[in-house]
Amino acid sequence: MEVANRYITIKTQVDGEPKESDFELKTSALSLSLDSGSNDMIVKNLYVSIDPYQINRMKSHSSSQKAIGFAAAITPGEAIDAYGVAKVVASANPEFEKDDLVVGLITWGDYSLLKGGNYMLRKFDPMGFPLSYQVGILGFSGLTAYGGFFKVCKPKKGEKVFVSAASGSVGNLVGQYAKLFGCYVVGCAGSKEKVALLKEKLGFDDAFNYKEESDLKSALKRYFPDGIDIYFDNVGAEMLEAAVANMNTFGRVAVCGVISEYTDAAKRAAPDMLDVVYKRITIQGFLAADHMNVFSDFISTTTDHLRTGKLYAIEDVSNGLESFPSAFIGLFRGHNTGKKIVKVADE
Ligand SMILES: NC(=O)c1ccc[n+]([C@@H]2O[C@H](COP(=O)([O-])OP(=O)(O)OC[C@H]3O[C@@H](n4cnc5c(N)ncnc54)[C@H](OP(=O)(O)O)[C@@H]3O)[C@@H](O)[C@H]2O)c1
Repeated sequence: MEVANRYITIKTQVDGEPKESDFELKTSALSLSLDSGSNDMIVKNLYVSIDPYQINRMKSHSSSQKAIGFAAAITPGEAIDAYGVAKVVASANPEFEKDDLVVGLITWGDYSLLKGGNYMLRKFDPMGFPLSYQVGILGFSGLTAYGGFFKVCKPKKGEKVFVSAASGSVGNLVGQYAKLFGCYVVGCAGSKEKVALLKEKLGFDDAFNYKEESDLKSALKRYFPDGIDIYFDNVGAEMLEAAVANMNTFGRVAVCGVISEYTDAAKRAAPDMLDVVYKRITIQGFLAADHMNVFSDFISTTTDHLRTGKLYAIEDVSNGLESFPSAFIGLFRGHNTGKKIVKVADE
């Protein structure tokens, strides 16, 4: 049997802000019969995670492309690989059977053909939660927030925490974990609706719309008159400079990502290094993959909090394969609230 497999690809490298015309939908025939012994597998894609780092994979050059396998350059014309949930439709791998639910590296397409058995995919138990949680709160966004906050920021109760892109997938969870842990938390986001969500639903102590502030250093001084102990950085550039200027002695900055620099090569954070020296500030970049050793703690803590209603999963789901380009482009325009996901198909 053969199916028509639609998938999204980039036409050419994308340098700068992504736009709809950078992408195209292609279709190719996919045979569902596999050679026994090949270990190949075909899965039907259900939920796919939409992530800012993919823009760095689409560029002509980015230092991230050689750093780690999953950040490798995307080849124009080929299906874009991404983290997601899928269902096995054909398997020549004895470890997987038809109808198994799997999570791992799939594609921006209807189906993913996974060759040779060396793919990054595992079976999972939904534990009574929606399947989409596997690509967000119980997936890499959650692990990024959990590992980044607890292992990189090393919080103490009562410390003052600032989170940027705080209504986004990682940011909202950092703020929620920090509140549950007993910190004072302020977030910034790009609209009044997002600010209201942080304060009224997610329990942040305060929040502000950074787009309404002409001087970020004095804005942070207003929200943190006694200084910032921890800055969880999702955006980089001038927000990082402003945060460093307001850090307390022995403050910690976890550099999770620098989204404002991804689409604008002219933007580079230049924090005052004398502040870093004299206030003995630690600025540490990290990857979620560094924290696989806390994965089981992360899952048990997060599922407990979800079951007791102490933690909210905020999702922003677009429907259908055609929505991949707009869902992705929207990340860089602040269109999403919470985890951005494309639902490709029903189970
Ligand atoms: N280190 C890791 O392992 C790891 C893993 C996952 C994600 N990350 C990084 O973490 C950050 C957040 O990722 P996410 O998946 O949670 O995405 P997200 O926050 O859900 O979505 C991106 C958000 O960033 C904000 N944004 C976009 N352009 C901006 C700009 N120029 N200046 C300030 N804010 C901007 C927008 O919100 P506003 O409306 O608030 O502007 C947008 O909604 C990214 O930098 C990402 O690369 C790192």
